Amino acid sequence: MSLSRGWKNLSVVSVARELRWPTVIWVFSASRDVDSCWRLVKQAAVAGEVLKTDGVSSVYKVGNFAVKETRGMTALAFKHSLVRFDRVSGYLGVLGEALNTVQVNQRHLPAHELMCVTFNLLTLKSAAYYNFLNDYVCFEDILSSQTTDLLSLLDASFLLLEKMLVGGVYHGDVNISNQFFTPDLLCSKLIDFEVSRELDCSLAMGFALQCSSMWDFRLKPYIEYTSYQSKVLGKIRSFSKDSADYNDSARLFNLMTAKSRVPRRLRDARLLIACGDMLASDVR
Ligand SMILES: Nc1ncnc2c1ncn2[C@@H]1O[C@H](COP(=O)(O)OP(=O)(O)O)[C@@H](O)[C@H]1O
Ligand SMILES: [Mg+2]
Repeated sequence: MSLSRGWKNLSVVSVARELRWPTVIWVFSASRDVDSCWRLVKQAAVAGEVLKTDGVSSVYKVGNFAVKETRGMTALAFKHSLVRFDRVSGYLGVLGEALNTVQVNQRHLPAHELMCVTFNLLTLKSAAYYNFLNDYVCFEDILSSQTTDLLSLLDASFLLLEKMLVGGVYHGDVNISNQFFTPDLLCSKLIDFEVSRELDCSLAMGFALQCSSMWDFRLKPYIEYTSYQSKVLGKIRSFSKDSADYNDSARLFNLMTAKSRVPRRLRDARLLIACGDMLASDVR
């Protein structure tokens, strides 16, 4: 996939775009024009509070925006972004994350909103500008502040995942730092759509997969595996139209959350299932 093809595809879904060499900007928000986005880009270049940084990307807070900037290999990944409008597996890379978020926004699903994307032709840095989730707190922070009981938080989380799945989106990277809630838990949003794709399995199966990836070391101090498992299985039961679907989904959940001593064959199967290239029911 050439970069120019990626740009062409991006311009199909963006509301406006403008070139101010060496930076390209695509604007996606109906409520903001190119000039106001350009002002935001310039402001971000001088001021920003770091929310998260690692080898491949950094997230800054700039005014009412969250700016996700990438460099190094991920910046290069922009060049090789796999943009497939014709395939259910969706899009990959930085450009992919932007395109996926646009799709989710267009379907009015609970997610942060993409304002614009920039790409610097000299430095190969790209940045995506999202509305900042001002009145929301992420799952992980609610958990560590211990202001809300975990079971209510899990109910809110499962409802959020359900909304996304019913909207036809398989998020693909559900964890406790990608889910945001208002303190009363009545409103919620997902972020980080880099590996999202169209839901291509049953609701129960998609839910089982998402909940298995959410089970990580940060939840373990707060809840026993068996309690988490029975809560997830209870919810899967309410989605399942038939018992075969329930059995497959439950099996998938148990396989994906199994401890490290899983035979090689099953570990390989887990990867294929997570990528959407294999069904749990095909695991022998
Ligand atoms: N729109 C947003 N509003 C508030 N915080 C955000 C927003 N987007 C990202 N963040 C913060 O930045 C962190 C990393 O963003 P994310 O897109 O999940 O990057 P990564 O791919 O590195 O996980 C999030 O866990 C969250 O704390
Ligand atoms: Mg994340």
